Amino acid sequence: MKFDTPATTNPIDQLKVIGKPVDRIDGPMKTTGTARYAYEQHEAAPNAAYGYVVGATIAKGRIASMELDAARRSPGVIAIVTAENAGKLEKGDYNTAKLLAGPEVQHYHQAVAVVVAETFEQARAAAHLVKVNYTEQKGEYDLEKAKGKAQLPKKEDKPESKFGNFDSGFANAPVKLDADYTTPDQSHAMMEPHASIASWDNGKLTLWTSNQMINWGTKDMAKTLGIPVENVRLISPFIGGGFGGKLFLRSEALLAALGAREAKRPVKVNLQRALMFNNTTHRPATIQRIRIGATREGRITAISHESWSGDLPGGQPETAVQQTRLLYAGAHRLTRLKLAVLDLPEANAMRAPGEAPGMMALEIAIDEMAEKLKMDPVMFRIINDTTSDPEKPGRKFSQRRFVECMRQGAERFGWNKRQAQPGKVRDGRWLVGMGVASAFRNNMVMKSAARVKLDKNGIVTVETDMTDIGTGSYTIIAQTAAEMMGVPLSNVVVKLGDSTFPVSAGSGGQWGGNSSTAGVYAACVKLREAVAAKLGLDAATAEFADGSVRAGGRSMSLRQAADAGELVGEDTMEYGDLDKKFQQSTFGAHFVEVGVDVATCEVRVRRMLAVCAAGRILNPKSARSQVIGAMTMGVGAALMEDLVVDKRRGFFVNHDLAGYEVPVHADIPHQEVVFLDETDPISSPMKAKGVGELGICGVAAAVANAIYNATGVRVRDYPVTLDKLMSKMTLSA
Ligand code: MOS
Repeated sequence: MKFDTPATTNPIDQLKVIGKPVDRIDGPMKTTGTARYAYEQHEAAPNAAYGYVVGATIAKGRIASMELDAARRSPGVIAIVTAENAGKLEKGDYNTAKLLAGPEVQHYHQAVAVVVAETFEQARAAAHLVKVNYTEQKGEYDLEKAKGKAQLPKKEDKPESKFGNFDSGFANAPVKLDADYTTPDQSHAMMEPHASIASWDNGKLTLWTSNQMINWGTKDMAKTLGIPVENVRLISPFIGGGFGGKLFLRSEALLAALGAREAKRPVKVNLQRALMFNNTTHRPATIQRIRIGATREGRITAISHESWSGDLPGGQPETAVQQTRLLYAGAHRLTRLKLAVLDLPEANAMRAPGEAPGMMALEIAIDEMAEKLKMDPVMFRIINDTTSDPEKPGRKFSQRRFVECMRQGAERFGWNKRQAQPGKVRDGRWLVGMGVASAFRNNMVMKSAARVKLDKNGIVTVETDMTDIGTGSYTIIAQTAAEMMGVPLSNVVVKLGDSTFPVSAGSGGQWGGNSSTAGVYAACVKLREAVAAKLGLDAATAEFADGSVRAGGRSMSLRQAADAGELVGEDTMEYGDLDKKFQQSTFGAHFVEVGVDVATCEVRVRRMLAVCAAGRILNPKSARSQVIGAMTMGVGAALMEDLVVDKRRGFFVNHDLAGYEVPVHADIPHQEVVFLDETDPISSPMKAKGVGELGICGVAAAVANAIYNATGVRVRDYPVTLDKLMSKMTLSA
């Protein structure tokens, strides 16, 4: 099915199941421990041996030699795989660095070997006996230093945009801001580590793994190993978090496959937590310069956002200026990305790549500008709203209810009680402040396919290689099928995460919810046609409800249609150029209240509210969970998360969950989430968009702005830790 005209009324609009806050259908399996994650597929590979990954201890250079004898003689060892005996390996399309180093080492903790043994403990003990001799080379690990040599990235990364004449527009503006902001390297730090079990049978590989994008992973595994894609099967039914860290094939998957081939039996590899931070990808640090010029009345006339980030050679920039091209009005505009070569581990996508760090900077700048103008920051944002793409006049947003999010948020949060002057509100030892930030994230639509079957018991089974990374995919897909086929949710079975199923959009870029359900919608349209044909009813007028089909005054049960055999509908939802004709984005507003201890500068978040406009909300309960999770991650970005770079040796120092801090329950107050009641008929027949990434965009700046309002200390370098506050704090008890 091709989606190339705005959606009209369709069966999804019945809203009997869609739009309802139903519980997760996979919830009982998860809470009872019966949902099997990759590492727990014991029955699938009962005699699996254990692989333990050895990571490089230099950041750049070559492996001169490896001493493996002691490890080979160690008890229980079955095989050791290194680049020497791995056979020819290609680099996958989605990886910048190789997943198995040798002889070249591209980054710290890049895998250099996997040791396979009978037990995990034996593999680990033997791995510690592997000795690698390196020829170390000098690398560049300091973004600040590399910044001067940074280049415009390649065209696909949209390195630059210009509109009007920024230089003269800015020069002529009566009120100006020119400030630098920095965001640190961050790690996905999801609960479930990268884990895989590999099993070979006659040259065919089955991999139980934890991966967001089954099709990308399947193709890249085949490419890396140089085998036909038909000979690779990925299975990933449950994923314990990804945040972008599991978008692509990672070393543990390849090493499980290589280890299993060498050991001639299944091998399971769990990438140890202490390797995850340097072995896999991370969100790269940025340096961002923002310039804003405005009239005294507060209208933006000139806006510029430049961002510098680094990656390995051949890598990509953090697209932190994306939102600045679309969020606010202004006649003169300039955005630019610069990419420096760094020899740190591979930089890549993490929840809302681009906007998440971009909004961290932009939304402090907007707060600073409002203050210069002596305007309320909510009002400053509202008067600089735009109804069309500010760089492409006439190109409208499919929906843009940004102002309503701001107004509703301000009203609900009690923004009118905020004191504009910082440091004015005290609650005992706490300095109390409120902050606001816009939320913005683009909405992408991705081709997605599904197969839907109806059996003689009236059970509808959906199969698609879509994944559920904790987001609720199982549930919204079941809701979609139930709505389309007119059956209760309990009559729908959803099977996900298997590369033998039709290729879906996968879980990435907050497109998964809308795109994967649109694929299921398309398949259900086919199944409805098959059912109507079988029963001799007119498909165009047929109504599917309560397990029956009604048309032309006749009503027949759905079960009858499948009496003589299962009926199947399969289709792919594809998209025309609606996303070219209209700008599709999601909007929101974040409000935060913090308390800052006047003596210790400890920050406590006291209240949070998000108001989101993101098209139809398919399931308000799982969507709210997405947003509160994202808000929590935003607090982490504001106050804690920081991969500390050892600039001499080139690695992230705090590479475990003790040193890389993220919020825990005690850090997070009650969070409120409000969704505006809207549908977006431009985005898909589901009329939905994404919320999983919108929820993080802007949060950190709202926290930083609240801290400023509480203390009068403006920190432009994340995370806002107490040492940065203390050095500038002038208020005292
Ligand atoms: Mo997202 S960073 O595309 O999983």
